Amino acid sequence: MSQVYTDVVKNPNQYNGDVLAENNSTSGEKKLYIESYGCQMNFSDSEIVASILSDAGYATTQKIDEADLVLVNTCSIREKAEQTVRNRLEHFNGVKKANPNMKVGVLGCMAERLKSKFLEEEKIVDLVVGPDAYKDLPNLLKEVETGRDAVNVILSKEETYGDISPVRLQTNGVTAFVSITRGCDNMCTFCVVPFTRGRERSRDPKSILSEIDDLAKRGFKEVTLLGQNVDSYLWYGGGPKKEFIKASELQQKTAIHFHQLLDMVAVAQPKMRFRFSTSNPQDMTRDVLHTMAKHSNICNYIHLPVQSGSDNILKAMNRQHTRAEYKQLIDDIRRIVPDCGISQDMIAGFPGETEQDHQDTLSLMDYVKYDFGFMFMYSERPGTPAAKKLQDNVPEPIKKHRLQEIVALQQQHGLWRTRQFVGKTVEVLIEKVSKKSDVHWSGRNQQNTVVVFPKEHYQVGDFVEVLITDCTSATLIGKAVSS
Ligand code: SAH
Ligand code: F3S
Repeated sequence: MSQVYTDVVKNPNQYNGDVLAENNSTSGEKKLYIESYGCQMNFSDSEIVASILSDAGYATTQKIDEADLVLVNTCSIREKAEQTVRNRLEHFNGVKKANPNMKVGVLGCMAERLKSKFLEEEKIVDLVVGPDAYKDLPNLLKEVETGRDAVNVILSKEETYGDISPVRLQTNGVTAFVSITRGCDNMCTFCVVPFTRGRERSRDPKSILSEIDDLAKRGFKEVTLLGQNVDSYLWYGGGPKKEFIKASELQQKTAIHFHQLLDMVAVAQPKMRFRFSTSNPQDMTRDVLHTMAKHSNICNYIHLPVQSGSDNILKAMNRQHTRAEYKQLIDDIRRIVPDCGISQDMIAGFPGETEQDHQDTLSLMDYVKYDFGFMFMYSERPGTPAAKKLQDNVPEPIKKHRLQEIVALQQQHGLWRTRQFVGKTVEVLIEKVSKKSDVHWSGRNQQNTVVVFPKEHYQVGDFVEVLITDCTSATLIGKAVSS
């Protein structure tokens, strides 16, 4: 039996920890080494891949030198992400020279974007598999063993991997991610995801509930429901597809919308805490907010990317809401879910962005005062509507300068938010030992802010009431007050 290993490359949209209490293992004759990059969905997909390959006789290993198969689950969201993967592939090339029998496969968004070009461009790659084709991996590996290159990048309108029980790879044994939708139908003009992950589809609520039940039985305490756009989750009993069914018929067919799914999981597991990510302002309903307010085990936290505060840019990005509508949603969140943490994603330097557009972003940030955020310079992605129709015309130094201003303002707001917690008591789920001190625990409050406090007699997985006594712009420091 070998230990499972995936290299944690920290992506901002990823909230899991980096100190690992326990790793799972799978058994098998061959050895698989798997690395994941990018969003949390990729990390979850790697757990599905490990499960599929475990059935095909592969045990996971953390030692690349002993691997028969090296898989890298890739990200295309920005050019830099792709460059990182290319550098890794070069490294694998060196390893492969010492071990010529080792096979290398590329999974995920880069596989989907570059398809068989990968086999030509990157000579060391034997296998290219897109996000919807992982069940074909055992067959593809047989092809590879007979000396042929293998590619499957077919996108599916149905595949949700709902029937696969993921092998939990790097896990703290306390928090887990459960995917509820795959793909995205939104077509934001800058975004490569609709091209690499295909059409949006929702997973059967029964399989979601049973995966969560299994996690609860194994001692997990918090689940984050995962999707590119969780608010558009829609299950309609495996009947005709969403586009063929009228809204009125949908009602009668007892469709399950996202707020109903949230309600179901919160009721089914009252002792577990729930989060969800990512919310899209155009699809988030007030029903979701009321469901959050109704259940104390749904965390008061919403990741609500806006990308820009300017109506002109929102329109050019094909975001289906205005600045005023977004502000209204923020007002409603504050009213219906008091004390709700809110975080953002922002893009600086989208094509055509003027100084005034940028100022609109800063003033929207002032309005919301986000708890934290993930901020990026625009990176043109080949094949996206923005790349086809718009010129990437904001000069790099200006993009950089605007990004710095956004980041600096976010830091001020972060500090303003964390200071509001000083003197208050918050509920913390202990996840791991603090990075900076081995006599402190680290966990998060409901609002998803990291809290550190002295260990005393508490254990990983405990819910603890912590009195906050101090803070930085991103961390709360306190002392446990519950028994
Ligand atoms: N709905 C998704 C969004 C995925 S991409 C989710 O679940 O988070 C994550 C973030 O990357 C986006 O919100 C956006 O801020 C950023 N991003 C996407 N494409 C980008 C691009 N071409 N250039 C810069 N940032 C980008
Ligand atoms: Fe991308 Fe927009 Fe979907 S950012 S993942 S197209 S909601």
